[in-house]
Order: sequence, then structure tokens, then C-alpha cells
Amino acid sequence: MQETEIRNFSIIAHIDHGKSTLADRMLEVTGTVPARKMKDQVLDQMELEREKGITIKMQPVRMKYNLDGKDYILNLIDTPGHIDFSYEVSRALKAVEAVVLLVDSTQGVQAQTLSTLAMAQEQNLPIIPVLNKIDLPNSQVEEVAEEITKLLGCTREEIFAVSAKTGDGVARVIESVISLTPKPSNNENDKLQGIVFDFDYSNHQGVILYVRIFGGSLKKGESLRLLGAKKDFITQEVGIFVPTKEITGKLEVGEIGYIVTGIKRPGIAQVGDTVTNAKNTAEAISGYKNPTPVVWASVYPESQDDFEDLKQALLKLKLSDSSISFEEETSGSLGRGFRCGFLGMLHLEIIAERLKREFNLNLILATPTISYTIVHNNGKVENIYSPNKFPDHGSYKEVREPWVRLTIVTPMNLLGSIMQILPAHEGVAGDTEMLSGGRAKFYVEMPLRELMRNFFDDLKSASSGYASLSYEFIGERIANVTRLDLLLAGEPVSAFAKVVSQARAEREAKETVERLKEVLPRQMFAFKIQAQLNGRIIASREMKALKKDVTDALYGGDITRKMKLREKQKKGKKKMKEQGKVEIPHDVFIKLMKN
Ligand code: GTP
Repeated sequence: MQETEIRNFSIIAHIDHGKSTLADRMLEVTGTVPARKMKDQVLDQMELEREKGITIKMQPVRMKYNLDGKDYILNLIDTPGHIDFSYEVSRALKAVEAVVLLVDSTQGVQAQTLSTLAMAQEQNLPIIPVLNKIDLPNSQVEEVAEEITKLLGCTREEIFAVSAKTGDGVARVIESVISLTPKPSNNENDKLQGIVFDFDYSNHQGVILYVRIFGGSLKKGESLRLLGAKKDFITQEVGIFVPTKEITGKLEVGEIGYIVTGIKRPGIAQVGDTVTNAKNTAEAISGYKNPTPVVWASVYPESQDDFEDLKQALLKLKLSDSSISFEEETSGSLGRGFRCGFLGMLHLEIIAERLKREFNLNLILATPTISYTIVHNNGKVENIYSPNKFPDHGSYKEVREPWVRLTIVTPMNLLGSIMQILPAHEGVAGDTEMLSGGRAKFYVEMPLRELMRNFFDDLKSASSGYASLSYEFIGERIANVTRLDLLLAGEPVSAFAKVVSQARAEREAKETVERLKEVLPRQMFAFKIQAQLNGRIIASREMKALKKDVTDALYGGDITRKMKLREKQKKGKKKMKEQGKVEIPHDVFIKLMKN
């Protein structure tokens, strides 16, 4: 009998260029998912993914295809397109031998086309260029193909054109994947060596590892070891993704599949760990980068009774999304909660949404921030990612903050309006390079703090949505920033504190005070909303008391009775103000964030 050969590949693209749709068609063409069971974006299994129309988590799937009388197994790993999740792309690329570079033929090469391509090239993977959406009237196949030939140094004949929507051309792409993807090789000693590229968790089975086998094989019941975690376990079940899990009882070299470990303790499974046989151990596979959080935000339960539930929910989420990090913290006004690290604003939004939906928790989210490195006067270096812990101005030697290098791809005629928004974000423009189709690519360096301060939205409006963006970290630089405190009724509210640029401090102070005045409800007493910088109040607005006529209940009555009542109310308000806590409803934080 002829041996079935394996091909492992991944699809990379800029967001919305059609990866998930192309994956759908491949599942159909290969008969993996029968047409009657086909729904759009089969691989986007999370409810949130389907709602938002984006891929959040990468998803592996095995397909079969017969070419010239020979059977092939094709393992596809679909990857997310949003920048927040680009580390997922780098993980997927470790598990495959080739990539399909998908480019929307109505849009051309975009910023993330370039950044994901760079990742694939770094790993020396063969690249199969495919133009998508050729069914659309504004598709510009030849122009974009020319751009790709320049980008990859390939010929026009090597570029495929498809419609992932109609399926036109998809079978040809599958066949070229078979012919152009190298077949997986075995390691020298045939010892079991697999890389964990993702994992999942089920209450009943514990941690489920997603692995790619680089050497040897494994069977159900064998005793395996996670080398990095130094943890042995008995394999309880082994299988593949079709795309749902299907038990096979074994996995062999070159295959992609899952291993049920029964491990129920959080913190053991790590992406990038090597799985091997407990008795006959192989070397660890190196080369994985752990994702680093980019944005931090405090998450508190609306009711303190839910603190334990929130803790359990975060631990559970971490079992399937290793990129979240969190630690406990306490805030005067909000009680006990967690300081959580996210990969970006979209990741933050998604986790907050999952906590709400999957765990039924009502949360308060305080001002997101990035992390700052403080060099104290005594030379001690400290990392700070809670604005209220940021030291007083002048009480330290220096502050450093992360900087990023942005790659922006835009139509040439919009270059001018994009340049205009850079100064306000402390952006420094670098080289500009012409691309085909009247477009340009250019680099900008800016503090991460400024990228997170709505730069995405500003870029979108400056370019009417035509510019695209990707970024990479380029290290830390000295920061001219300071802590801005917000006070309600004379009391600083730690969850409102923020770190702002010195130059923008006054403006931020005024804007935040105004915004708070809009979103805070009135109280029974009048109070001030103030912003304080370096011990000085630099913005202030008065919030009037809720008016309630205490004499309404009186029928007539003489004036002295009314006066008495009013006097009593005045005293009551004074007392309230003295005890004076301003009630902050939880949605104030979300409204402030959405500013
Ligand atoms: P992420 O999952 O967010 O990374 O996006 P993606 O690259 O997977 O894109 P997706 O497959 O979700 O497609 C984006 C949009 O383009 C969807 O509305 C698709 O229906 C549409 N689309 C994809 N391929 C084609 C195509 O060949 N023709 C047309 N007309 N529309 C397409």
C-alpha cells in the first residue's frame, strides 16, 4: 500500500483579506465538512469570533486530498489577523512547513501582509502567494500580482488567483500546497519530540495540549513528560482535529493533533513546551517567544461578593489563553480586584466580554495603561503598571517607556493628512517607500503610550479607513510623563489616576474633568471634580447637589416648620459630605474608557 504523505501549512494575511473564508472552501473542496453542514467561518468556533467576524484563536484542522491517485493529509492552521494576536501567527508558523500568503486583490498588500510575511521568511518557509476576491468588480489582479512579484521576487506564474467566496481556483491552490510544501522529516533518533503550540482546558479532561510531532510517535496510555514544566502525565486520549476532535489513539511524526493530559492544575501547560516520552526523553525544542502584555487594566467585581468567582474565572481563562496575566490588587474605592495584562485593546475587550458571558460576572474596568520603568534616585529599578503607584514628579531619576515602530501602508494621496496627526502622538516619521498601485509604505516611531491613545482611530479617520498598520517593539526610551490624579469631593480616586505626557497634562486634565462631569451622576450634596498635577489643582468643576424639596410633603404649614426642615436637610447634607463618599457607578469607568 502506498504511504499517505503529510503536508502542514498555514494561511497568513492582513485582517479581513479572507483567510477564514478560504479555509471554509478548502474544507468543502476536500470534503472535510460536508456542504450541508457548512456554515460561514467553520473554524471560528468561539461565539464572539462569529459575532465579530474575526478570528481570535488559531484553529488547526486535518483534511484529505487525492492528487494523481495518491492520498495526502493536509494539516491547516488558520491564524488570527488582528495585530493584538500576531504572536498566535508566530506560534502557528513553528508547526508548519509552508504558508499561503493571501492578499485581497481589491486592496493589495497591507501592513500586516508585510509583518506576517516577515515572520514566515524569518523561518525560511516556502511562500505560496494567492490573490483573493477575484469575483469582485473592483478586483485588480494584475496590479496586485505585479506588487507581489516585486515583494517576493517570484514570477507572475507562481501567483494564484481565487475567489474564496465562490470557490473558484481553490482546488488549484490545494494542489500547489501539496507540491510546494516540503514533507515533514523525522528527528535523527526517532524519540518522541512534539511542540505544544496551543492548549485548551475542559473541566472533565483537564489540560488538552495541541501538538505538532517532530520526532517519534505516541499512544494513549503512555507516560509522557512536559520538559519545560518537568511534569509527567499519563496520556488519557489522543486525536486529531477534523475540525472537531476525533480520537485516533496515536499520533505519529509530522502529525498535528491533541493530547488529553488530565492535568488540572493551572500554570503547568505553557505554549512552546516540548512533550516527550517520560522514559526515553528527547531534547527540548527551542525558539518560542512568550507573548508580553502590552496594556494593563484593573478589573474589579462590581460586588465584592464576586471576588472569588472572578479569581476562578481568570484562572480558567488562563488555562485556554496563556497570554493573559494577572495579579491581585486592592483599591480604596473598589475593594479587591486584579491587575491584568492584555495583548492590546481588542484583547482587553474580548476578555472582559468573555468574563461577562462565560462566567456571568459584572465588572468594573479601570483606566488601561502600559508599563513604565522607574529608575529611583537610589538606583533601584522598578516596573510600574498601575498609574496610582507612579511616583510623585521629581522623586525619581528617570522614567523609561516602551517605543514601537509602526509600518503604515497608505494610498499616496493620504500621506499628507496622516503626517498631520503624527505630532500630536509624538510620532517621528522615517523612510517612505513607494509600492505599486499609487501606494506608499512608511515607518513611524512613537511611544506605545501614544499608540494606545486612540492612534488606530485617528489613523482611520485621517485616511478614511484606507491606511493599515502593524507594529513591533523597539525597546525603551526616556519618557516625559507624569501622574495625573483625579479627585472627587477632595478624595483622590485611585482607579481614575493616569500617566500622561507632561506636554499634554493640562489638556488631559481639563478633558477628563469635563468628561467626568458628563458621566458622573449627581449626589445628594455638591462636590468638586478636580485634576491634580504635582500637588497642584489644575482643573476643577463643581457638581451641583441633587435638589429635593423636603417641604413638598407638608400641607401648608407655617414658615417656621419649613425652615426647620430645610435646616435639618442642610445639616444632613453637610454630614453626608463630611462622611462624604461619592458613589461611582460601574459604567462610569467604561464610559471614560470609551472617551
Ligand atoms: P480574520 O478572521 O478577522 O483574520 O479575517 P479573515 O482574513 O479570516 O477574513 P474573512 O474570511 O472573515 O473574510 C473577510 C470578509 O471578506 C468576509 O465578509 C468574507 O465574506 C469576505 N470575503 C472573503 N473572501 C471573499 C471572496 O473571495 N469574495 C468576496 N466577494 N468576499 C470575500
